[in-house]
Amino acid sequence: MGKKSVYYCQSCQHEEIGYLGYCPACGASEPLVKKPLHSESDGAKTQRYGLATEPSSARLYKEIDAVDSQRLASGCDEFDRVLGGGIVPGSAVLVGGEPGIGKSTLLLQAAASVARTLGPVLYASGEESAHQVKMRGDRLGLGDEPVYLLAETCLERILEEVDRLNPVLLIVDSIQTIFSRAIQSAPGSIGQVREAATHLLFTAKGRNLPTFLVGHVTKDGSLAGPKVLEHVVDSVLYFEGERHHSHRVVRAVKNRFGAVSELGVFEMTESGLQAVPNPSRLFLSERASSVPGSVVLCAVEGSRPILVEVQALVSSSAYGTSQRTASGFDQKRLSLLLAVLETRAGSSVAGEDVFLNIAGGLTIDEPAADLGMVAAVASSHRKRAVRSGTVVFGEVGLGGEVRGTTHAGLRIKEAAQLGFTRCVMPKSNCVMGKSIKECEQVGVTTVEEALEVLFD
Ligand code: TYD
Ligand code: MG
Repeated sequence: MGKKSVYYCQSCQHEEIGYLGYCPACGASEPLVKKPLHSESDGAKTQRYGLATEPSSARLYKEIDAVDSQRLASGCDEFDRVLGGGIVPGSAVLVGGEPGIGKSTLLLQAAASVARTLGPVLYASGEESAHQVKMRGDRLGLGDEPVYLLAETCLERILEEVDRLNPVLLIVDSIQTIFSRAIQSAPGSIGQVREAATHLLFTAKGRNLPTFLVGHVTKDGSLAGPKVLEHVVDSVLYFEGERHHSHRVVRAVKNRFGAVSELGVFEMTESGLQAVPNPSRLFLSERASSVPGSVVLCAVEGSRPILVEVQALVSSSAYGTSQRTASGFDQKRLSLLLAVLETRAGSSVAGEDVFLNIAGGLTIDEPAADLGMVAAVASSHRKRAVRSGTVVFGEVGLGGEVRGTTHAGLRIKEAAQLGFTRCVMPKSNCVMGKSIKECEQVGVTTVEEALEVLFD
């Protein structure tokens, strides 16, 4: 009985008494990790978790009061919008994005405005020293609001400070740098990330303390700390787009308390991230009118309509094989739409290169964007510009039919607000006789019909 440790799998927690380079239970190819046997008594372990949550017993559904979970305003409307209307008490939110995109900036700004109105905020940074965070804070105009900086990577220390300060908001930047003394693997490993996130989640729930975790994103676009975090937290926000643009798009990809796909649009300025109140205007700002291949489409992201310009370029391929490249739009969907265009509308782009781009670095994946894509390709192919003042939306089916979409009214209103005078849209969506007079509704049932009315 001289064994003092066991080896366990970081993915499924399966335990073995000896070291193995793989997990026999779940088949993971990562080596098992050593863990001291009974490093804490079972009592201590429950206490560790118990620190955060009171023991509870099952209660009858109808006896449970509906707590009107009052959301906290972060002080930034755009950020509140992505969160689904403010910060939910006791929620754990993961904020992901590439390095340098603005995660720390956004959260430090949120920290400052929450501290200003609601009380102390603890900002635990495992990446930067307190001085570095302060230098950033100076740029952002932080003053004497009660933001506590803690340069710390040890989970237990962070939890101690939470106990001591009793903050209204906790920010951990980043979860990949945090380690727990209870586990021996290195910070950033799956086991550590999962352990730290789970503890922080318990603390969030137990104390009703909203917690933001920053998560790094690997090159292929997935959140490092492999995906385990997405399941653990309540919401996942993700910075989209490119660093080369001054604007930043934050999207909710998971939200237990609100709509997913909700977008926040910001601009990175000298003094931090500023909300962009009218994203359509921003995304259309550099549009050259009357250029073949350029079409304005109206997408709905979350609950918000956004007008964006889609640009297509069709040119004869210099080499044998033609290329199809889409940025900001699904490549397979593009191939499908090109096939529909060829078979149902007689515009063959076989043997030609097709490039498609959503201007401004936005990603659009709703089917209502189909007709806009088709229109842009056809416009470039025919070298004819779409009549000015036109906005396009509608889903395209394999039969070349144009199908109705959701939120048609919202889309038309947004188009009218930005001075567009004509919507080429699914016939079934036309709200004849109803308001929105400034914008003419041109209903179409097939792609062919749409292409007839698009050009002068
Ligand atoms: P940062 O928040 O550090 O990114 P992350 O935490 O996601 O790695 O953002 C850093 C970038 O933002 C950096 O390139 C500098 C720029 N920046 C500004 O342009 N203005 C500012 O006020 C601040 C604080 C940063
Ligand atoms: Mg950072």
